[in-house]
Amino acid sequence: MQFRPKMFHVKHHDTTENKEAVTAEEERAPEQDVESPEPEVTEASGVIAEETEQRGSGDATDDTASTAPAPGKSARSGSPLAGFSDTPLARELSEITRRRRAIEAEDLPVPSKTRVFTIANQKGGVGKTTTTVNLAAALAKSGARVLVIDLDPQGNASTALGIEHRSETASVYDVMINDVPMADVVQKSPESDLLFCIPATIHLAGAEIELVSMVAREQRLRSALDAFLAERDEPFHYVFIDCPPSLGLLTINAFVAAREVLIPIQCEYYALEGLSQLLNNIKLIERHLNPELNVSTILLTMYDSRTNLANQVAEDVRQHFPDQVLDTLIPRSVRISEAPSFGLSVIGYDANSPGSLSYLEAAAEIARRGAPIAQQ
Ligand SMILES: Nc1ncnc2c1ncn2[C@@H]1O[C@H](COP(=O)(O)OP(=O)(O)OP(=O)(O)O)[C@@H](O)[C@H]1O
Ligand SMILES: [Mg+2]
Repeated sequence: MQFRPKMFHVKHHDTTENKEAVTAEEERAPEQDVESPEPEVTEASGVIAEETEQRGSGDATDDTASTAPAPGKSARSGSPLAGFSDTPLARELSEITRRRRAIEAEDLPVPSKTRVFTIANQKGGVGKTTTTVNLAAALAKSGARVLVIDLDPQGNASTALGIEHRSETASVYDVMINDVPMADVVQKSPESDLLFCIPATIHLAGAEIELVSMVAREQRLRSALDAFLAERDEPFHYVFIDCPPSLGLLTINAFVAAREVLIPIQCEYYALEGLSQLLNNIKLIERHLNPELNVSTILLTMYDSRTNLANQVAEDVRQHFPDQVLDTLIPRSVRISEAPSFGLSVIGYDANSPGSLSYLEAAAEIARRGAPIAQQ
């Protein structure tokens, strides 16, 4: 599949039109230059949302920001929360409550056969690790047994799942280079009894070179994973392999081990460059090394609805890949970026934040869609 990013009709910083747009944007959200507004959903705000829901939150298209009475000063002042119901914050909290309830109400199906995903994009910093960890945590929360294989020497997925990965820890390096069984290196994440991780240590940085001279160098991860999955009494429902930002032998091993590729795309212009190369590489792997490989899922990440560019990138990617792109967009979110420093997914860190709900919704879509027909 050939994909050429469109030249967007977005004017860059030097045009008057754009300056005006930016100024208008700043006026609307002076302190939220980059991050989307993200209300903290505390117990109290949950109560507000509940109350808001009971009263009905009014017409969502109303611009009530300037006309809403100050909290507590409403004519309906029987309750200290009176007047909140028609503020933008209350509407947002109400929406979060609605989303949370919808997620909680749904029983997600688990696949009959393990679905193995490689999360790949040779561009750095597009949200591969964040997506791996949070989808894995979201699916584990829904009752699926999930394995994350950290195949990036940076070890970010291991960190985010609270997994030990100091240099002396047995890791995916030992699996690939020293034929150590995965069962000997797998660790359970403190976040969930259903969430496991094969950690990466700094040794993996040398593996690209060491693999070059090895027999069946592209198949090493696949062989180890197949053996591990075959001997498990309790099968894994999902495996997510987090790739480094390159198309070297580690990533090739991930493509050979997987059946599905999930490509996270950051909603920014440069994020689209290199996508054709990635897709061509996947085609080559499919042709020569793994005929089952299939780009099943594309997830738009770090979406900021206030920018025209994010909207245009999202629209363009949807046009090119209508079947693969998930409906759910992952917003830019402070909570998502804070979570790894606590050794947690955003779901473990702040379950009711918009970022967490988005990953739960994306995971639900993946579960509902099921594996592509050929694999079932
Ligand atoms: N939705 C989001 N909102 C805010 N920050 C995010 C979001 N997704 C990811 N980030 C932050 O962006 C940075 C890059 O994300 P991440 O590490 O997941 O990308 P990556 O593609 O795995 O990077 P690399 O190519 O280096 O492996 C991290 O600091 C992460 O916390
Ligand atoms: Mg990463």
